[in-house]
Amino acid sequence: MTSTILVTGGLGYIGSHTAVELMERGFDVVILDNLSNSSESVLGGIEKITGKKPKTYIGDIRDREMLQTIFKTDHIDSVMHFAGLKAVGEGEEKPLLYLDNNVTGSITLFDAIMKAEVKRVIFSSSATVYGESDTFKYTEDMPLNPINVYGKTKLKVEEILRELKKTNPTLGIAILRYFNPVGAHPSGYIGENPKGTPNNLMPYIADVAMGIREKLFIFGDDYPTPDGTGLRDYIHVKDLALGHIAALNKLEAHTDLITVNLGTGKPFSVLDLTQVFEVVSGKKIPYEVVSRRKGDVAGCFADPTLAKELLRWEALSDINAMCKDIWRWQQNKINIIR
Ligand code: NAD
Ligand code: WQD
Repeated sequence: MTSTILVTGGLGYIGSHTAVELMERGFDVVILDNLSNSSESVLGGIEKITGKKPKTYIGDIRDREMLQTIFKTDHIDSVMHFAGLKAVGEGEEKPLLYLDNNVTGSITLFDAIMKAEVKRVIFSSSATVYGESDTFKYTEDMPLNPINVYGKTKLKVEEILRELKKTNPTLGIAILRYFNPVGAHPSGYIGENPKGTPNNLMPYIADVAMGIREKLFIFGDDYPTPDGTGLRDYIHVKDLALGHIAALNKLEAHTDLITVNLGTGKPFSVLDLTQVFEVVSGKKIPYEVVSRRKGDVAGCFADPTLAKELLRWEALSDINAMCKDIWRWQQNKINIIR
Protein backbone atom coordinates (compact mmCIF):
# COMPACT_ATOMS: atom_id res chain seq x y z
CA MET A 1 0.00 0.00 0.00
CA THR A 2 1.21 3.53 -0.76
CA SER A 3 2.27 5.57 2.25
CA THR A 4 0.90 9.07 2.61
CA ILE A 5 3.27 11.70 3.96
CA LEU A 6 2.16 15.07 5.30
CA VAL A 7 4.85 17.61 4.49
CA THR A 8 4.40 20.74 6.62
CA GLY A 9 6.18 23.72 5.05
CA GLY A 10 6.16 21.75 1.79
CA LEU A 11 6.13 24.86 -0.41
CA GLY A 12 9.33 26.13 1.23
CA TYR A 13 12.90 25.52 0.13
CA ILE A 14 13.76 22.16 1.73
CA GLY A 15 10.16 20.90 1.97
CA SER A 16 9.52 21.33 -1.78
CA HIS A 17 12.71 19.43 -2.70
CA THR A 18 11.78 16.64 -0.31
CA ALA A 19 8.21 16.50 -1.66
CA VAL A 20 9.67 15.98 -5.16
CA GLU A 21 11.94 13.12 -4.03
CA LEU A 22 9.04 11.47 -2.16
CA MET A 23 6.70 11.76 -5.16
CA GLU A 24 9.35 10.36 -7.49
CA ARG A 25 9.53 7.31 -5.21
CA GLY A 26 5.77 6.69 -5.30
CA PHE A 27 4.76 8.24 -1.96
CA ASP A 28 1.52 10.20 -1.78
CA VAL A 29 2.37 13.69 -0.60
CA VAL A 30 0.02 16.11 1.15
CA ILE A 31 1.36 19.62 1.76
CA LEU A 32 0.35 22.06 4.50
CA ASP A 33 1.87 25.55 4.21
CA ASN A 34 0.71 29.00 5.30
CA LEU A 35 2.76 30.80 2.57
CA SER A 36 4.49 32.97 5.20
CA ASN A 37 7.78 32.38 3.35
CA SER A 38 6.76 30.78 0.07
CA SER A 39 4.28 31.03 -2.78
CA GLU A 40 1.79 28.76 -4.51
CA SER A 41 3.87 29.05 -7.70
CA VAL A 42 6.20 26.40 -6.18
CA LEU A 43 3.46 23.86 -6.95
CA GLY A 44 3.99 24.60 -10.65
CA GLY A 45 7.69 23.75 -10.29
CA ILE A 46 6.90 20.51 -8.45
CA GLU A 47 4.43 19.57 -11.20
CA LYS A 48 6.97 20.30 -13.96
CA ILE A 49 9.44 17.91 -12.32
CA THR A 50 7.11 15.11 -11.21
CA GLY A 51 4.16 15.46 -13.62
CA LYS A 52 1.80 15.78 -10.63
CA LYS A 53 0.55 18.46 -8.26
CA PRO A 54 0.50 17.23 -4.66
CA LYS A 55 -2.68 17.82 -2.67
CA THR A 56 -2.10 21.09 -0.84
CA TYR A 57 -3.73 22.82 2.11
CA ILE A 58 -2.96 26.50 2.49
CA GLY A 59 -3.12 26.87 6.25
CA ASP A 60 -1.24 27.02 9.51
CA ILE A 61 0.14 24.25 11.73
CA ARG A 62 -1.42 26.13 14.66
CA ASP A 63 -4.92 25.65 13.21
CA ARG A 64 -6.31 22.65 15.13
CA GLU A 65 -9.44 22.36 13.00
CA MET A 66 -7.49 22.28 9.78
CA LEU A 67 -5.16 19.62 11.19
CA GLN A 68 -8.15 17.55 12.26
CA THR A 69 -9.59 17.78 8.74
CA ILE A 70 -6.30 16.74 7.14
CA PHE A 71 -5.74 13.75 9.43
CA LYS A 72 -9.39 12.64 9.05
CA THR A 73 -9.42 12.97 5.26
CA ASP A 74 -5.97 11.96 4.13
CA HIS A 75 -4.96 8.94 6.24
CA ILE A 76 -1.47 10.21 6.98
CA ASP A 77 1.13 7.55 7.85
CA SER A 78 4.09 9.86 8.50
CA VAL A 79 4.71 13.58 8.95
CA MET A 80 7.77 15.47 7.76
CA HIS A 81 7.71 18.69 9.72
CA PHE A 82 9.53 21.52 7.93
CA ALA A 83 7.15 24.40 8.75
CA GLY A 84 8.94 27.03 10.77
CA LEU A 85 10.42 30.52 10.76
CA LYS A 86 14.19 30.48 10.25
CA ALA A 87 15.64 34.00 10.11
CA VAL A 88 18.07 34.27 13.03
CA GLY A 89 17.99 38.10 13.19
CA GLU A 90 14.18 38.29 13.00
CA GLY A 91 13.98 35.77 15.84
CA GLU A 92 16.00 38.12 18.08
CA GLU A 93 13.62 41.00 17.28
CA LYS A 94 10.40 38.99 17.54
CA PRO A 95 11.00 36.18 20.06
CA LEU A 96 7.30 35.62 20.76
CA LEU A 97 6.53 35.21 17.08
CA TYR A 98 9.29 32.60 16.77
CA LEU A 99 8.27 30.75 19.96
CA ASP A 100 4.63 30.76 18.92
CA ASN A 101 5.19 29.69 15.33
CA ASN A 102 7.96 27.15 15.88
CA VAL A 103 7.21 25.78 19.37
CA THR A 104 3.44 26.27 19.86
CA GLY A 105 2.98 25.31 16.22
CA SER A 106 4.91 22.07 16.73
CA ILE A 107 3.00 21.25 19.93
CA THR A 108 -0.32 21.75 18.13
CA LEU A 109 0.86 19.55 15.28
CA PHE A 110 2.18 16.82 17.61
CA ASP A 111 -1.13 16.80 19.51
CA ALA A 112 -2.98 16.15 16.24
CA ILE A 113 -0.38 13.52 15.28
CA MET A 114 -0.95 11.64 18.55
CA LYS A 115 -4.75 11.81 18.21
CA ALA A 116 -4.59 10.50 14.64
CA GLU A 117 -2.15 7.73 15.64
CA VAL A 118 0.37 8.73 13.00
CA LYS A 119 3.28 6.29 12.99
CA ARG A 120 6.32 8.47 12.29
CA VAL A 121 7.48 12.08 12.55
CA ILE A 122 10.61 13.60 11.07
CA PHE A 123 11.64 17.02 12.36
CA SER A 124 13.85 19.70 10.78
CA SER A 125 16.34 20.64 13.45
CA SER A 126 19.56 22.53 12.92
CA ALA A 127 23.26 22.49 13.74
CA THR A 128 22.44 25.78 15.52
CA VAL A 129 21.41 23.71 18.58
CA TYR A 130 25.07 22.91 19.36
CA GLY A 131 27.27 24.99 21.63
CA GLU A 132 30.65 26.22 20.35
CA SER A 133 33.39 23.66 19.67
CA ASP A 134 37.11 24.39 19.29
CA THR A 135 37.48 21.63 16.70
CA PHE A 136 34.52 23.02 14.64
CA LYS A 137 33.38 19.42 14.14
CA TYR A 138 30.10 18.28 15.69
CA THR A 139 28.96 14.81 16.72
CA GLU A 140 25.37 14.28 17.84
CA ASP A 141 26.34 13.72 21.49
CA MET A 142 28.03 17.12 21.89
CA PRO A 143 26.60 19.67 24.37
CA LEU A 144 23.55 21.62 23.19
CA ASN A 145 23.64 25.34 23.80
CA PRO A 146 21.98 27.50 21.15
CA ILE A 147 22.79 31.18 21.45
CA ASN A 148 19.84 32.67 19.56
CA VAL A 149 16.04 32.50 19.88
CA TYR A 150 15.72 30.59 16.59
CA GLY A 151 18.15 27.91 17.79
CA LYS A 152 16.37 27.76 21.15
CA THR A 153 13.05 27.03 19.42
CA LYS A 154 14.71 24.10 17.60
CA LEU A 155 16.13 22.72 20.86
CA LYS A 156 12.75 23.08 22.62
CA VAL A 157 11.01 21.08 19.89
CA GLU A 158 13.74 18.41 20.10
CA GLU A 159 13.12 18.19 23.88
CA ILE A 160 9.35 17.93 23.34
CA LEU A 161 9.91 15.04 20.93
CA ARG A 162 12.16 13.27 23.43
CA GLU A 163 9.41 13.61 26.08
CA LEU A 164 6.76 12.35 23.62
CA LYS A 165 8.81 9.25 22.91
CA LYS A 166 8.83 8.31 26.62
CA THR A 167 5.04 8.11 26.77
CA ASN A 168 4.51 6.91 23.17
CA PRO A 169 7.09 4.21 22.52
CA THR A 170 5.49 3.13 19.24
CA LEU A 171 5.95 6.53 17.62
CA GLY A 172 9.02 6.61 15.35
CA ILE A 173 10.87 9.93 15.58
CA ALA A 174 13.78 11.31 13.57
CA ILE A 175 15.40 14.57 14.60
CA LEU A 176 17.57 15.71 11.70
CA ARG A 177 20.15 18.42 12.35
CA TYR A 178 20.94 20.15 9.07
CA PHE A 179 24.17 22.01 8.47
CA ASN A 180 24.11 24.65 5.66
CA PRO A 181 21.60 23.67 2.94
CA VAL A 182 22.38 25.23 -0.47
CA GLY A 183 21.81 24.53 -4.18
CA ALA A 184 18.58 23.89 -6.03
CA HIS A 185 16.86 21.13 -7.96
CA PRO A 186 19.04 20.25 -10.99
CA SER A 187 16.02 20.89 -13.28
CA GLY A 188 16.08 24.58 -12.36
CA TYR A 189 12.31 24.49 -11.60
CA ILE A 190 12.48 24.86 -7.81
CA GLY A 191 14.99 26.47 -5.47
CA GLU A 192 15.39 28.95 -2.65
CA ASN A 193 13.73 32.32 -3.06
CA PRO A 194 14.56 34.52 -0.07
CA LYS A 195 12.35 37.56 0.43
CA GLY A 196 14.35 40.84 0.51
CA THR A 197 18.10 40.88 1.13
CA PRO A 198 19.43 37.34 1.62
CA ASN A 199 20.87 36.61 5.08
CA ASN A 200 22.75 33.55 3.90
CA LEU A 201 25.97 33.46 1.94
CA MET A 202 25.05 31.38 -1.12
CA PRO A 203 21.93 33.32 -2.22
CA TYR A 204 23.82 36.56 -1.60
CA ILE A 205 26.70 35.46 -3.85
CA ALA A 206 24.17 34.39 -6.51
CA ASP A 207 22.60 37.88 -6.40
CA VAL A 208 26.04 39.50 -6.83
CA ALA A 209 26.77 37.21 -9.82
CA MET A 210 23.44 38.32 -11.36
CA GLY A 211 24.34 41.97 -10.84
CA ILE A 212 21.39 42.45 -8.43
CA ARG A 213 23.86 43.38 -5.67
CA GLU A 214 27.11 45.26 -6.16
CA LYS A 215 29.45 43.16 -4.01
CA LEU A 216 29.65 40.54 -1.31
CA PHE A 217 30.43 41.68 2.22
CA ILE A 218 32.62 39.04 3.85
CA PHE A 219 31.99 39.02 7.57
CA GLY A 220 35.53 38.83 8.94
CA ASP A 221 38.83 37.42 7.65
CA ASP A 222 40.54 37.15 11.03
CA TYR A 223 39.06 33.83 12.20
CA PRO A 224 41.40 31.00 13.23
CA THR A 225 40.78 29.20 9.89
CA PRO A 226 43.18 28.56 6.95
CA ASP A 227 42.19 31.73 5.03
CA GLY A 228 40.71 33.66 7.97
CA THR A 229 37.08 33.46 6.72
CA GLY A 230 34.32 31.31 8.27
CA LEU A 231 34.21 27.58 7.57
CA ARG A 232 30.86 25.84 7.00
CA ASP A 233 29.48 22.51 5.87
CA TYR A 234 27.40 23.29 2.75
CA ILE A 235 25.05 20.48 1.76
CA HIS A 236 23.08 20.16 -1.48
CA VAL A 237 19.35 20.44 -0.80
CA LYS A 238 18.73 17.33 -2.93
CA ASP A 239 21.09 15.30 -0.72
CA LEU A 240 19.27 16.70 2.31
CA ALA A 241 15.92 15.61 0.83
CA LEU A 242 17.33 12.11 0.28
CA GLY A 243 18.47 12.09 3.92
CA HIS A 244 14.80 12.44 4.91
CA ILE A 245 13.84 9.46 2.80
CA ALA A 246 16.65 7.45 4.38
CA ALA A 247 15.33 8.45 7.83
CA LEU A 248 11.80 7.46 6.82
CA ASN A 249 13.06 4.04 5.66
CA LYS A 250 14.88 3.61 8.95
CA LEU A 251 11.75 4.45 10.98
CA GLU A 252 9.66 2.10 8.86
CA ALA A 253 12.03 -0.70 9.88
CA HIS A 254 12.48 0.33 13.57
CA THR A 255 10.27 2.59 15.67
CA ASP A 256 13.23 4.35 17.28
CA LEU A 257 14.00 7.92 18.24
CA ILE A 258 17.05 8.90 16.24
CA THR A 259 18.96 12.18 16.23
CA VAL A 260 21.26 12.56 13.25
CA ASN A 261 23.47 15.23 11.65
CA LEU A 262 22.87 15.80 7.95
CA GLY A 263 26.02 17.35 6.51
CA THR A 264 28.88 16.44 4.19
CA GLY A 265 31.61 16.61 6.83
CA LYS A 266 33.68 18.75 4.42
CA PRO A 267 34.25 22.38 5.42
CA PHE A 268 34.54 25.23 2.90
CA SER A 269 35.43 28.86 3.61
CA VAL A 270 33.61 31.97 2.38
CA LEU A 271 36.51 32.60 -0.03
CA ASP A 272 36.43 28.97 -1.28
CA LEU A 273 32.76 29.27 -2.10
CA THR A 274 33.19 32.66 -3.78
CA GLN A 275 35.98 31.27 -6.00
CA VAL A 276 33.99 28.17 -7.02
CA PHE A 277 30.96 30.35 -7.82
CA GLU A 278 33.10 32.62 -10.02
CA VAL A 279 34.30 29.62 -12.05
CA VAL A 280 30.84 28.04 -12.35
CA SER A 281 29.05 31.26 -13.30
CA GLY A 282 31.82 32.88 -15.32
CA LYS A 283 31.06 36.10 -13.38
CA LYS A 284 33.36 38.13 -11.16
CA ILE A 285 32.20 38.31 -7.53
CA PRO A 286 33.59 41.56 -6.11
CA TYR A 287 33.88 41.52 -2.34
CA GLU A 288 34.80 43.67 0.63
CA VAL A 289 35.89 42.31 3.99
CA VAL A 290 33.93 43.91 6.82
CA SER A 291 33.79 43.17 10.54
CA ARG A 292 32.55 39.85 11.94
CA ARG A 293 28.76 39.29 12.14
CA LYS A 294 27.47 39.03 15.71
CA GLY A 295 26.75 35.44 16.72
CA ASP A 296 28.87 33.83 13.96
CA VAL A 297 31.25 31.02 14.86
CA ALA A 298 34.60 30.52 13.10
CA GLY A 299 33.77 27.03 11.92
CA CYS A 300 30.98 24.47 11.98
CA PHE A 301 30.84 21.16 10.18
CA ALA A 302 29.24 17.78 10.70
CA ASP A 303 30.70 14.50 11.71
CA PRO A 304 28.49 12.52 9.27
CA THR A 305 29.50 9.06 10.59
CA LEU A 306 26.24 8.32 12.40
CA ALA A 307 24.13 9.13 9.30
CA LYS A 308 26.23 6.68 7.29
CA GLU A 309 25.94 3.95 9.91
CA LEU A 310 22.30 4.41 10.93
CA LEU A 311 20.63 5.68 7.73
CA ARG A 312 23.04 4.28 5.13
CA TRP A 313 23.00 7.79 3.69
CA GLU A 314 25.71 10.20 2.72
CA ALA A 315 25.78 13.46 0.80
CA LEU A 316 26.97 12.88 -2.76
CA SER A 317 27.01 16.31 -4.45
CA ASP A 318 30.19 18.33 -4.38
CA ILE A 319 30.53 22.09 -4.02
CA ASN A 320 30.68 22.55 -7.83
CA ALA A 321 27.29 20.88 -8.28
CA MET A 322 25.82 22.99 -5.46
CA CYS A 323 27.02 26.22 -7.14
CA LYS A 324 26.01 25.09 -10.66
CA ASP A 325 22.48 24.22 -9.54
CA ILE A 326 21.88 27.45 -7.64
CA TRP A 327 23.26 29.41 -10.61
CA ARG A 328 20.83 27.66 -13.00
CA TRP A 329 17.94 28.38 -10.59
CA GLN A 330 19.05 31.98 -10.11
CA GLN A 331 18.85 32.59 -13.87
CA ASN A 332 15.50 30.78 -14.23
CA LYS A 333 13.56 31.93 -11.21
CA ILE A 334 12.52 35.28 -12.63
CA ASN A 335 10.42 33.37 -15.20
CA ILE A 336 9.05 30.85 -12.71
CA ILE A 337 8.04 32.93 -9.70
CA ARG A 338 5.45 35.56 -10.42
P1 NAD B 1 11.47 27.95 4.23
O1 NAD B 1 11.11 29.21 4.92
O2 NAD B 1 11.83 28.01 2.79
O3 NAD B 1 10.30 26.88 4.39
C1 NAD B 1 9.47 26.81 5.51
C2 NAD B 1 8.04 26.77 5.00
O4 NAD B 1 7.16 26.67 6.14
C3 NAD B 1 7.62 28.03 4.24
O5 NAD B 1 7.01 27.65 3.01
C4 NAD B 1 6.60 28.72 5.15
O6 NAD B 1 5.62 29.40 4.42
C5 NAD B 1 6.05 27.55 5.96
N1 NAD B 1 5.59 27.88 7.32
C6 NAD B 1 6.22 28.61 8.27
N2 NAD B 1 5.47 28.67 9.38
C7 NAD B 1 4.34 27.95 9.13
C8 NAD B 1 3.19 27.65 9.88
N3 NAD B 1 3.02 28.13 11.11
N4 NAD B 1 2.22 26.89 9.33
C9 NAD B 1 2.36 26.41 8.06
N5 NAD B 1 3.43 26.69 7.30
C10 NAD B 1 4.41 27.45 7.82
O7 NAD B 1 12.64 27.28 5.07
P2 NAD B 1 13.55 26.03 4.73
O8 NAD B 1 14.91 26.53 4.48
O9 NAD B 1 12.89 25.18 3.73
O10 NAD B 1 13.55 25.31 6.15
C11 NAD B 1 12.69 24.25 6.45
C12 NAD B 1 12.92 23.84 7.89
O11 NAD B 1 14.27 23.47 8.08
C13 NAD B 1 12.65 24.96 8.90
O12 NAD B 1 12.03 24.40 10.04
C14 NAD B 1 14.02 25.47 9.24
O13 NAD B 1 14.08 26.02 10.53
C15 NAD B 1 14.84 24.20 9.16
N6 NAD B 1 16.26 24.44 8.86
C16 NAD B 1 16.60 25.21 7.77
C17 NAD B 1 17.93 25.47 7.50
C18 NAD B 1 18.33 26.37 6.36
O14 NAD B 1 19.43 26.93 6.40
N7 NAD B 1 17.51 26.53 5.32
C19 NAD B 1 18.93 24.91 8.32
C20 NAD B 1 18.55 24.12 9.39
C21 NAD B 1 17.21 23.89 9.65
C1 WQD C 1 27.87 31.26 6.16
C2 WQD C 1 29.22 31.94 6.25
C3 WQD C 1 29.15 34.06 7.42
C4 WQD C 1 26.62 36.08 4.45
C5 WQD C 1 22.67 30.13 9.11
C6 WQD C 1 21.89 30.05 10.39
C7 WQD C 1 21.73 28.62 10.82
C8 WQD C 1 21.19 27.73 9.70
C9 WQD C 1 21.90 27.94 8.40
C10 WQD C 1 18.83 27.38 9.99
C11 WQD C 1 29.50 32.57 7.62
C12 WQD C 1 29.52 34.26 5.97
C13 WQD C 1 27.37 35.16 5.15
C14 WQD C 1 27.26 37.22 3.89
C15 WQD C 1 29.37 36.40 4.73
N1 WQD C 1 19.81 28.00 9.43
N2 WQD C 1 28.73 35.31 5.28
N3 WQD C 1 28.62 37.33 4.06
O1 WQD C 1 25.39 31.63 9.61
O2 WQD C 1 26.39 29.37 9.05
O3 WQD C 1 23.96 29.58 9.31
O4 WQD C 1 21.99 29.34 8.09
O5 WQD C 1 18.85 26.56 10.84
O6 WQD C 1 20.89 28.65 11.92
O7 WQD C 1 22.58 30.79 11.37
O8 WQD C 1 25.03 30.57 7.31
O9 WQD C 1 25.04 31.37 5.00
O10 WQD C 1 24.52 33.00 6.86
O11 WQD C 1 26.85 32.14 6.60
O12 WQD C 1 30.59 36.54 4.85
O13 WQD C 1 26.63 38.09 3.28
O14 WQD C 1 29.22 33.03 5.33
O15 WQD C 1 29.88 34.90 8.25
O16 WQD C 1 30.88 32.42 7.85
P1 WQD C 1 25.28 30.35 8.91
P2 WQD C 1 25.27 31.82 6.39
